[in-house]
Amino acid sequence: MNHSDKYDTLKRLDHTHLWHPFTQMQEWMGEDPCIIAEGEGSYLIDVDGNRYLDGVSSLWCNLFGHRRPELDEALKAQTDRIAHSTFLGLSHVPGIELAARLNAIVPPGLTRVFYSDSGATAVEVALKLAVQYWQLLGQTERTRFARLEESYHGDTVGAMSVGYSELFHHYHRTMLFPSLSVKPPYAYQREQGLTEAEAMERSLAEARATVEREKDRLAAFIMEPVMQGAAGMWPQPAGYVRGIRDICADNGILFIADEVATGFGHTGRMWACEHDGVTPDLMCVGKGITGGYLPLAATFATEEIFSAFLGEYGEFKSFFHGHTYTGNPLGCAVALAGMDIFERDALMETLPAKMAWLERTLQADILTLPHVREIRQRGFMTGMELVKDKARGERYDPGLRIANQVVLEARRRGVIIRPLGDTLIMLPPLTISDAELAILTGVVRDSIRHVTEAS
Ligand SMILES: Cc1ncc(COP(=O)(O)O)c(C=O)c1O
Repeated sequence: MNHSDKYDTLKRLDHTHLWHPFTQMQEWMGEDPCIIAEGEGSYLIDVDGNRYLDGVSSLWCNLFGHRRPELDEALKAQTDRIAHSTFLGLSHVPGIELAARLNAIVPPGLTRVFYSDSGATAVEVALKLAVQYWQLLGQTERTRFARLEESYHGDTVGAMSVGYSELFHHYHRTMLFPSLSVKPPYAYQREQGLTEAEAMERSLAEARATVEREKDRLAAFIMEPVMQGAAGMWPQPAGYVRGIRDICADNGILFIADEVATGFGHTGRMWACEHDGVTPDLMCVGKGITGGYLPLAATFATEEIFSAFLGEYGEFKSFFHGHTYTGNPLGCAVALAGMDIFERDALMETLPAKMAWLERTLQADILTLPHVREIRQRGFMTGMELVKDKARGERYDPGLRIANQVVLEARRRGVIIRPLGDTLIMLPPLTISDAELAILTGVVRDSIRHVTEAS
């Protein structure tokens, strides 16, 4: 590909000055990076004017498309008022208004919003609230957490501790606190060839046994409801979230739902917990809260948890936690404009047809390809797993990085998706048009074909 002088300059500066997340920089510095300069609707546009359909909604956070006029306007209007003012000792207009709007749509029973600035910090807040809650109630032994195997809750130390991954975290193992891991249903299906129903029963039985055994030492069970995203899109059967919630309630421990990835419509309901009619004790959201514009996150709590922290100042029951940009007004203003779009455009009502179309197309056009072993989908959250030999379930040599090859081929064809091991990940903006969805699935199919036929 021929590049402009501007591209060459930026590439040199990137390679000289930057360190990218989750990236082997030696490899990066030997390649031509894709340098994004603009966005428009579902598309990203690079410095040379090439357009790419954003099939992962900029890491699962862009809900309404890029440069959405209503969000741009809300941001500009807020900058005309104030960009930032602290939430410590002061409040501000968009922070208050957003909390009221969010509380009206979260599962009933969640009444309090604690802002932070990323998914990981929303999780840290939930973990710290849970531990302090039990201390305030005098149950000081309850300090540990149960979680699902291969769960991912972010890259800060607490979040890593409840989402340990050997590949990502083994260098930092000594920094982490221990947590109790339960095998999720998908792992049972995969490792032991169980049916979905059998796997769910096994996983719930294991969760119940673990929680009952440890209940006096457990503060909470934390999980990604309905779909474990970063594990490679590991779905849970209907009723599983309810099952874990009931185990927590039966044993008197808190249930934390990490809806950072699943929240704001990604699974077809506003919150994944809604599929099972579950209200968690604490709920973490981030990513889509500002439609992918600004770093903002929130942890929701019940009134029961909130009230345990009330008392005279001198009792020191306060939650001593905060970040400089907690509840940043620009983020809150944009998030409010996003709430308007959900309401005005009845956005949630537009999703079932699109998600059903996606499911039919993936089953008909992609699962039928000779090297696609499995499609795992809940709403727009999609994983497509590649194998060398479908009949024998033989995996590709990991050194081939087959999914990464497909991702690069799709990019050459104007579509951005992401690899996770041998799984291709797709999660488009909620507002993607039918025509764009057809382009996305068509390019993914052709890219898989192109790469797997040559490998
Ligand atoms: C379920 C879940 N929790 C937490 C996080 C961390 O969010 P952030 O990257 O904003 O810190 C992620 C990120 O992918 C996630 O998928």
